[in-house]
Amino acid sequence: MLVDNHGREINYMRLAVTDRCNLRCFYCMPAEGIDYAPRKELLSFEEIIRICKAFASQGISKIRITGGEPFLRKDMMQLLERIAEVDGIEEINITTNGTLLEGRVKDLKAIGIKSVNLSLDSLDRERFHEITRRDELDKVLQCMDDMLAEGIQVKVNMVVMKGKNDADIIPMLELANDKAVSVRFIEEMPFNGTEGQGNEGFWSFQEILNKIKKHYPELTKIPDPVGSTSMNYRIPGFVGGFGIIAAYSRTFCGSCNRIRLTPQGLIKTCLYDNGIFNIRDLLRSGATDEGLIQALKTALAHRFKDGHEAEKHRQSLLPNFESMASIGG
Ligand code: GTP
Ligand code: 5AD
Ligand code: SF4
Repeated sequence: MLVDNHGREINYMRLAVTDRCNLRCFYCMPAEGIDYAPRKELLSFEEIIRICKAFASQGISKIRITGGEPFLRKDMMQLLERIAEVDGIEEINITTNGTLLEGRVKDLKAIGIKSVNLSLDSLDRERFHEITRRDELDKVLQCMDDMLAEGIQVKVNMVVMKGKNDADIIPMLELANDKAVSVRFIEEMPFNGTEGQGNEGFWSFQEILNKIKKHYPELTKIPDPVGSTSMNYRIPGFVGGFGIIAAYSRTFCGSCNRIRLTPQGLIKTCLYDNGIFNIRDLLRSGATDEGLIQALKTALAHRFKDGHEAEKHRQSLLPNFESMASIGG
């Protein structure tokens, strides 16, 4: 079992398999995109499997695949199949923009994927285009319906930005009226790959909740799963539910059970740190599995208490210079 210096058990790895993306969501990267890492700097298929095996032997049982857009990786389906076979991995989830999954959802189901988080910030075609700078709304909606038809659990991620898509909060929430989805409203974080202030359209989780309460005063709080980022609610009569993720206020760090692996092999013990060590470099310099595990244990023995402390200790890059696509969210 992996335990950090604050007594938190770590059983969950967020694995960002690529920094590439086919959308250009403005809260994540500038219109011209980011400087993608050269291909040889990205973790290879075999390197990813080796890290998964080593960490699974220590108690990592849940893996979430993120990116960039994971399905831009040509070997994505094979990678999922191989990770699913790793001893100790009990659950693989995926966070995707859903635009590249046409005709592939049945295969995901066959591999054993039970839950997918879908990024979707507006149901309005023009606003979707304004936010993502691409016209792909129909594909995302089709993907959601395909997954529900296959019985895959769907959580919809909406990053809330005042003046951009706050008018979409209620229509997005109402997706859960007749669909078995959980719609999650996310505080914007300043990881948008550009110089500047970052999240000036910031709305806190409290403001988001107040807005929803005005429309649906009958909403009720429901229990949150262990290690959940979202505070979860339901509205009587709705098939699905909703959640709010205080990603910037960081209310959930006390029960944080996760580490991150970036596409270039950085191990992060907090979303807000700027990388603790590079496991790709260790691998490529001939480290044994025991060496990889030891490096992780050392990092966990010096883990920041929470995301605020991690942010305070960041060296070099300001958060907003970094794109969420190269961190994995
Ligand atoms: P579940 O396993 O379904 O709870 O997924 P999740 O909410 O942890 O993951 P997802 O990839 O859907 O991310 C939703 C939002 O939560 C994104 O904006 C993430 O960046 C944010 N998020 C995920 N993990 C953390 C975290 O450890 N800290 C912070 N501050 N935000 C996080
Ligand atoms: N702030 C909050 N959430 C973000 N995401 C991407 N960029 C940001 C940001 N700046 C979300 C995406 C995706 C998840 C992994 O992270 O919407 O669903
Ligand atoms: Fe791509 Fe996701 Fe970033 Fe949007 S948020 S640009 S879909 S990685």
